[in-house]
Amino acid sequence: MHAESPGAGPAAEDPAGAGPARRPPAVFAAAGSCVYLAPVTHNAESFDRWIRTSFVQMNTALENRYFAQDDRARVTGVGDSIKAQLRDEGHAYVVGLLREGNTDDGFDSAFGVLGSVGLYLGALRRHELTNPGREQRSPFAEASALALHVGASLGMAPRFSTGHLATHNKAVAGVRKSFTSLPDEFLFIDENTRGILSMQGAADALRRIVPLGVSSPVADVQFEAARLALGNTVRFNQRLFATLDVDRFFYCVRPYYKPYRVGRQEYRGANAGDFSGINELDLLLGLCRASDPYYAQLLVDKMLFMLPEDQARLRACMTYRSLLDEFMAVADESSGADWFQRNAAAFLDVCEVFGQTAAQHHDLFVRRFIEEPAAGLNPEHLADITASGPPLPVLIRSLQTLRDLRVAAPRGDLATRHDDLARLRRLVRRPA
Ligand code: HEM
Repeated sequence: MHAESPGAGPAAEDPAGAGPARRPPAVFAAAGSCVYLAPVTHNAESFDRWIRTSFVQMNTALENRYFAQDDRARVTGVGDSIKAQLRDEGHAYVVGLLREGNTDDGFDSAFGVLGSVGLYLGALRRHELTNPGREQRSPFAEASALALHVGASLGMAPRFSTGHLATHNKAVAGVRKSFTSLPDEFLFIDENTRGILSMQGAADALRRIVPLGVSSPVADVQFEAARLALGNTVRFNQRLFATLDVDRFFYCVRPYYKPYRVGRQEYRGANAGDFSGINELDLLLGLCRASDPYYAQLLVDKMLFMLPEDQARLRACMTYRSLLDEFMAVADESSGADWFQRNAAAFLDVCEVFGQTAAQHHDLFVRRFIEEPAAGLNPEHLADITASGPPLPVLIRSLQTLRDLRVAAPRGDLATRHDDLARLRRLVRRPA
């Protein structure tokens, strides 16, 4: 193996050219210290194992080189032989899968392949082996073809998204997919996932109130479940904020989430928001409206970044009347009723803690981990630092809009639910 080579790819292990799919079962040292035995009979499994091992080792080696420089954002011309190895080893797996052309192996397998090829392309983008700004089409034709084929067959964008690294990132003997083995990347992935799972739980609890109605005596347990779940998200967010290293995140984790081309088209980067639960909460609580053109556009844009099951849940939520609208519709005649007092108070508590999560995201995460380090960045590296692509000030403004909708801030230029929530608060008589 080359002196610079931290990986063990198909070319090195398979001089007879049998290809990655036909190597015998072997014990592999995964990134970190974990060791597991995996059967190697299938192209998708071989690619998956490479992604969890050599791929991670090569990315980690590259990150450590970049990070050791005075200018940590410099990537070009650093670790070129590792980059070439990463590109070529991944290519061999991609070609094997493309030849196999098998997309009828079940959802999990296809979703896993989309994640693996997506992580591979994301890494090539991170290491500047491709850059949508200087190309008309991806230089990686085979990886693009594989991603397009699998993505289209699943009904998802042909790139990796949050599901691949968070909610559907299957651990094998504790090892989940990642780009590197840096502790800060695992911290980010794991705390994100915990936060997302809690939000999904909250959305699930609220959705079950829809068929019951807001006057139902049993809505109480659902509101409570949602409040507790969102309280957990607040807790995980606090933990992430307190422990994530700003520079490691900014220089070594975030760059893997940049946009890249698949075929001719450029796809925006993944972000922790690519799950429907957050939007289900927006819509069910009534803080955002699917009829608002700004918000509706956001939903349309993110639809294909979500799993098909999430897409279906989000579509269903778009047809419901929000819980806030339900309360407002009966406020005049029922605000004195016991059920109204109880359930509206519980609803307001959920809105309160949901607002806390939104404020944390913007005022803690985005400020400390994106805005502040970007301010110190050499101007030549400033382009492309966001996942969605727009210049940073534009992105920050749109994230601010979302925060203000979710906390129902009083804003003359934005139709938030501030006045409706204020009215509901006045109607609810809290015990002193
Ligand atoms: C270090 C922690 C985090 C940072 C720095 C961060 C930063 C960002 C940024 C910059 C975006 C915009 C994406 C882009 O287009 O570039 C974004 C989107 C989003 N993130 Fe995070 N994020 C973090 C953690 C989380 C967590 C833990 C959650 C959920 C539990 C989350 C939920 C979202 C959502 C829902 C969106 C989509 C926009 C929205 O609906 O608000 N993020 N994040």
